[in-house]
Amino acid sequence: MDFELANALARIVELKDQSTGAHTWRVTMYAQAVAEAERMPISTVMGFMLGAVLHDIGKIDIPAGILSKPGRLTDAEYETMKSHTVLGWERVQRMGVRDPLVLHVIRSHHERIDGSGYPDGLVGEAIPIAARWFSVIDGFDAMTSLRPYRDGVGEDAAARAIADLREHAGTWYEPRAVEVFDELHQTGRLDSILEHLNDREGQASLVGPLDSEAMSIARNALLESTTDAEDVRRIEAILDLASEQTR
Ligand SMILES: [Fe+2]
Repeated sequence: MDFELANALARIVELKDQSTGAHTWRVTMYAQAVAEAERMPISTVMGFMLGAVLHDIGKIDIPAGILSKPGRLTDAEYETMKSHTVLGWERVQRMGVRDPLVLHVIRSHHERIDGSGYPDGLVGEAIPIAARWFSVIDGFDAMTSLRPYRDGVGEDAAARAIADLREHAGTWYEPRAVEVFDELHQTGRLDSILEHLNDREGQASLVGPLDSEAMSIARNALLESTTDAEDVRRIEAILDLASEQTR
């Protein structure tokens, strides 16, 4: 899958899940920074970044009422929310994605080193390394992005987030990934991603609004990935919502 299609799909997820704003864009830029700091080969960098773009693609299959519910989710709703990992992993494979890096990030980005994560409750090195690294990035962005219920962002939030990553290094997070992320933060490499792309309206994004060409590529890919009539109806509803909001 190319980045153009992946970006369009990620934008559609963001239109549905308003609270994420430019989350996908930021985590992709963090992924690039981390991959380069680790001097990963270029094919690994690209796979890791594509995984970042697509990591929450399964939210396409989660009802909007659960995605943007202001209060606490019920146990049943939380179980549904958790399924975005497996559903996304399944859907991108129906779209032809075969790169293990990409698939690992999508399925396993909510796993934790101590086995308390989901969807598979994997422990330690059983969690694919790309997912272990990405969960540090995802965790950091969740703690430093504007949310309806939180105002504090910027340097204070970043320092608190790094402290939290450090506290959970070895239990939730891969210690080496936390260390690299902390170093990047200290050198200021993350500042432009953190500060300038975190606006209240969730409009900040280098990829910009969905244009009609990207939208039609995404439409075709999504419709081709459907499994049954109900899935087609669900996808068409999302596409209607997206085209309304991109007009
Ligand atoms: Fe996720």
